Amino acid sequence: MFELSPAGLAKVQKEMKRYETIESAIIPALFVAQKENKGWVSEDVVRHLAKVMHIPEAKINEVLKFYTMFNTKPVGQYHVQVCGTLSCHVNGGPALMQHICKELRVSLDEITKDGKFSVSRVECLGSCGTAPMMQVNDSYHENLTPESAMNILRGLS
Ligand code: FES
Repeated sequence: MFELSPAGLAKVQKEMKRYETIESAIIPALFVAQKENKGWVSEDVVRHLAKVMHIPEAKINEVLKFYTMFNTKPVGQYHVQVCGTLSCHVNGGPALMQHICKELRVSLDEITKDGKFSVSRVECLGSCGTAPMMQVNDSYHENLTPESAMNILRGLS
């Protein structure tokens, strides 16, 4: 059963005081909880946050299911999110994604056998001028080629 660490709980409580409504603290609270739950938000996490924040689980689920930056399934130690929106799409994004999946021997939204990587296609990551790009955990990598992306990923393993 998931429970926030004392430090995580303090962060969520601080966010709850920051805004006029508790609902406004859902996004920061989800970020804290996701980080403490190996990169994803389970039903247990939602239940715990609802209890801590004194709001219905449905309120948290509305936010959780809307934003792709929250993972509702387990992810690898390194979660590779490849942008699939227009600028990245026309600048080599599909080939980039295909190459990464092939090299890591994993399908989209799956985790490698060793648990190290998972790969997802996401919407615009906000750096269209430097397409194609990917996000790996909290790091952003731009102007990628299939080779440069794999060099980055190999450097992590
Ligand atoms: S389209 Fe890929 S970062 Fe915007």
